[in-house]
Amino acid sequence: MAGIYSLARPLLFRLNPETAHDLILKTIGLIGQIHPLNQYLADTCRGPLPSIPVDAMGLSFPNPIGLAAGLDKDAKAVDGLAALGFGFLELGTVTPLPQSGNPRPRMFRLTSAQALVNRMGFNSGGLNLFLARLGQQHQQTIIGINLGRNAATSNNDAWRDYLTGLRAVYRVADYVTINISSPNTEGLRDLQERDALDSLIQYLKDEQTKLADLHQKYTPIAVKISPDLNAESIARVAEVLTLRGIDGIVATNTTISRPLNTDAHLHASQAGGLSGAPLATLSHRVITELRQHTPSEFPVIGVGGIMDAASAQAAFSAGATLIQLYSGLIYRGPALVPEILKGLQTAKAAVS
Ligand SMILES: Cc1cc2nc3c(=O)[nH]c(=O)nc-3n(C[C@H](O)[C@H](O)[C@H](O)COP(=O)(O)O)c2cc1C
Repeated sequence: MAGIYSLARPLLFRLNPETAHDLILKTIGLIGQIHPLNQYLADTCRGPLPSIPVDAMGLSFPNPIGLAAGLDKDAKAVDGLAALGFGFLELGTVTPLPQSGNPRPRMFRLTSAQALVNRMGFNSGGLNLFLARLGQQHQQTIIGINLGRNAATSNNDAWRDYLTGLRAVYRVADYVTINISSPNTEGLRDLQERDALDSLIQYLKDEQTKLADLHQKYTPIAVKISPDLNAESIARVAEVLTLRGIDGIVATNTTISRPLNTDAHLHASQAGGLSGAPLATLSHRVITELRQHTPSEFPVIGVGGIMDAASAQAAFSAGATLIQLYSGLIYRGPALVPEILKGLQTAKAAVS
């Protein structure tokens, strides 16, 4: 698999990033539909994976490496992605109604920095299409579903969109992530302010209680936060979320800051959220600060700038319970998943 991706990467990187992304997802989706081929690629190319089980949010993860939200927003390639060795997949962000997102171009590569800037703006086929597609997949991987609000919904009414999403996906999701940290939907990140956050989470927890009763199943809820929060805001967010009984925090989304030399990288000044290698330090700082305000067993899903086994280890050392990847997959390909797992296994063996 590593070989195939390193051959394909120069060709893919000649394409516009969004075109390349769509092509990769389509290919993974197609492979996933052909069960024997999917199985062959999983067994032969990926090879056996170290088992590193982690229990978090009441779920048993076969390993702690997940796919981050945004890569498969519409549940188009779940079976194929599951075969890459992830311990879990976070799908979405899905919005209640379909919407096209921001005008193209809206995704940019900063190749020498191993980074991306995107301002996709929750392009989404909407909940109905998402659920129909998910229903056609056969995988048994742990599935997180990341929910957003439509661009046309105000922050005052955002709770309605999140409740619509929660009700729709509750039964089929293993966990749900509430995305209030994308920089590409105007005003969304204001939902991280104390009063707005507290009221939104109260709505969600009340609804979760009703849905748990209705479906006889508890689906945990995590909240995804921004790396641009200062220490005081991180403490406040952690306090609100733990007091309200939220099940986990995903840290972090992309940053509107530019922790790199903007003159040295074409596209660095494009509007949108930066992901990839330069995000690691920010994201790990947020995890470290969250840990100062949460019990050690509280689940923190670390995401941002994990590009190799060392940066994965750094996220765990900062306090992550599980981790997720997006930009690393674009730059390193699917071989990154077994590479990190083997690195973690070696590190574990050295400690014990
Ligand atoms: C093109 C692109 C689209 C994204 N879309 C979403 C999204 O829809 N929802 C979300 O919560 N995060 C989204 N993200 C953020 C990622 O899930 C992740 O938090 C961020 O990229 C940092 O991880 P990374 O450095 O491994 O890429 C997106 C990231 C990229 C690069």
